[in-house]
Amino acid sequence: MSSYDVSAVRSAFPILRHEVHGKPLVYLDNAATSQKPEAVLDVSRHYYERLNSNIHRGTHYLAQEATLAHENARKLIARHLNASSVEEIIFTSGATDGINLISSILGYSGKINPGDVIAISNLEHHSNTVPWQMLCERSGAELEVIPVTEEGTIDSTAFDHLLEKTSGRLKVLALTQISNAFGTILPLGPMIDSAHRAGALVVIDGAQAVPHLSVNMQDLDADFYVFSGHKVYAPTGIGVLYGKRELLEDLPPWRGGGEMIRKVSYEGTTFNDLPYKFEAGTPNIEGAIALAAALEFLNGLGLQNVSSHEDEMIRRAASALTSIRGVTLYGPSDRSGSLSFNIEGIHHYDLGTLVDKMGIAVRTGHHCCQPLMARFGVTGTLRASFGCFNNEDDVNRLAEAVEKGVEMLR
Ligand code: ALA
Repeated sequence: MSSYDVSAVRSAFPILRHEVHGKPLVYLDNAATSQKPEAVLDVSRHYYERLNSNIHRGTHYLAQEATLAHENARKLIARHLNASSVEEIIFTSGATDGINLISSILGYSGKINPGDVIAISNLEHHSNTVPWQMLCERSGAELEVIPVTEEGTIDSTAFDHLLEKTSGRLKVLALTQISNAFGTILPLGPMIDSAHRAGALVVIDGAQAVPHLSVNMQDLDADFYVFSGHKVYAPTGIGVLYGKRELLEDLPPWRGGGEMIRKVSYEGTTFNDLPYKFEAGTPNIEGAIALAAALEFLNGLGLQNVSSHEDEMIRRAASALTSIRGVTLYGPSDRSGSLSFNIEGIHHYDLGTLVDKMGIAVRTGHHCCQPLMARFGVTGTLRASFGCFNNEDDVNRLAEAVEKGVEMLR
């Protein structure tokens, strides 16, 4: 950790030089969206100043340069994820879009039928719950939920029972890699193996993992993997769906329009090859290029250094908050990214509002995980979520602000 120069990292983020409510900003809402480093902002600006043009269409200089930059970004992302081929990288608008894409085409393709089972966990974000509920409603499949333990981890025994109970009927297992609400890291390796042995496809929501962990598609062996650019220091409106090539080849397109076609006539249309088959319309060109720049930025820091530093900050924050009377911390102690808590007798929203007035940005509420909140008998929590630039001062100011807020509200 000593090799990690957090002051230098902080200086790369212009927003951290600004104040909110007259106080220096402490930004601890990275799980909702991360801040953007200068290197990414420069790439976005450079694109619009020097390259802006539509891609894959024009013969002119700018169109070719923009196409090259966009496709180079795809290559860099494929390398970052260790995909087998660049065609396995589909650009989307974010993780939600990727899950909707895959759940919709599994539905269209007739692969999900009445009596089939789609399993998710109780830790899922609404975006990895609702699209599957919608698919179940359309197809007559059943949604099963893997429960979580009191510690906020997957109940592995219940998962084994679910596999036995649904033998031959489990078609999709859709899991998050890291819980956005509690920071729980799921034991994906054995779960993916079990699901594959049961004949199911596996979809992983990597939105909270890509900013913190090195993810390797060959090791993970998920069939589909999604993440959002904006949570990994890139702009909003860009994301990635990775899919194993043979599966993507076999599935029908989703949205129709320009770019995803090979030939259109009123008699019928033939579709483009991967990855364009799933990319109808003008894509977010600048977003894709900026996402590649964000991943380069992260790789420049070293993902291992980043995650060790963040883990240390989150441990310190957990330890500081533990001393506050009436505090409940959610999730296991080896959480990643997010630290959720409540203080007995105090509403998360009231405390979050006071903490904000002290310059600290945390998220309050259900974190798009209402079924998880219901499981723990709460309407929401306060959540501090960490990124590569958070430092000890942020942790201290968070703890002081929470203590002060609690005194004011008691
Ligand atoms: N998924 C985002 C969060 O956890 C919005 O805050």
